[in-house]
Amino acid sequence: MSIQIKGTGCFVPEKVLSNQDLEKIVDTTDEWITTRTGIKNRHIAPEDMPTSDMALAAAKNALENAGISADDLDFIIVATSSGDHPFPSTACVLQGKLGMKKKCQCFDISAACSGLLYSLDTGANLLRGHKNYRYGLMIGAEKLSYLADWKDRATCVLFGDAASAVILEKVDDGSDESCLLATDLGADGSCVSLLLHPAGGTAIPVTAENVDTHENALNMNGPEVFKHAVPAMVSAAKTVLADANIPADRLRWVIPHQANKRIIDAVAARLDVTEDHVYVNIQNYGNTSAASIGLCLDELSRSGQLQKGDLVLATTFGAGLTWAAALIRW
Ligand code: UT7
Repeated sequence: MSIQIKGTGCFVPEKVLSNQDLEKIVDTTDEWITTRTGIKNRHIAPEDMPTSDMALAAAKNALENAGISADDLDFIIVATSSGDHPFPSTACVLQGKLGMKKKCQCFDISAACSGLLYSLDTGANLLRGHKNYRYGLMIGAEKLSYLADWKDRATCVLFGDAASAVILEKVDDGSDESCLLATDLGADGSCVSLLLHPAGGTAIPVTAENVDTHENALNMNGPEVFKHAVPAMVSAAKTVLADANIPADRLRWVIPHQANKRIIDAVAARLDVTEDHVYVNIQNYGNTSAASIGLCLDELSRSGQLQKGDLVLATTFGAGLTWAAALIRW
């Protein structure tokens, strides 16, 4: 029995918000955003497009790529911090929108930017653990434009909206192989306050007052998060390489979470990986949180830059604080 990647997909909303556009909204410059983050553009979903609609488009794209139908799926996991509702899960909403007759299990994962890798790890284990399961759909989908504080130049320039999807398949081939050669996941709950959406839950219910003070918008201590991000991503990446006994020079691609080009460069340098093996698309999309890794995988795959058997190391970091790395054989 092996676990393989059967297909990928993505969806990016049409509307582009450039650094020049942001210069008209907050006190910032294209020069500051480019040199401090590497971001040039991000995509923004229309007001009437909930996260589940982006997830739906990415799911259909992946199902087509995999050559299977929605009713072949045995579970749906949506990784998101900006789901349609506090409950039910966006995965349930997505199942309804896919019009599935098969009432498979559906749930969300809240692991911020590490969400897709958390989902892949969970999904691979679900396939292994259920005799009759064959296909699982994992989505990373975010409408962070909705959570952003558009008066806070320190955060609103960073994020973008998108969804990405990966379909895993269990193949009864007599082997015991997985496309996930090794994974390393972790979290440090003592750092919750560094990056969070404070209000809107039971800790701080939404009131007219905290709407006015932007407490119900995304809040981040950027420099502190930066300090934690690089060592955590590097440590997780080194752990999976050691677990799988694969030297970094055998990697076709390193895909770091696309939060900041300076973080990406620092991670690549510490892993001793050259630029031509590091995938970067942050300039086009900004930080799309849980969608980021899947967006990179889908772009690489569809542009022919990933061949069967290639080794890919994805490493992420996000609110929680959470981190995750996965060594993937394509
Ligand atoms: O995906 C989840 C994980 N998130 C991350 O990994 C984010 C990690 N953090 C970062 O990427 C960076 O810390 C930021 C990009 C958020 C900020 O970059 P920084 O180099 O750490 O800047 P800073 O926050 O230390 O601010 C430096 C200066 C400040 O001005 P003063 O105090 O030096 O006068 C800020 O007020 O830059 C100012 N500033 C801006 N100026 C123009 C902050 N945001 C902006 C802006 N435009 N958009």
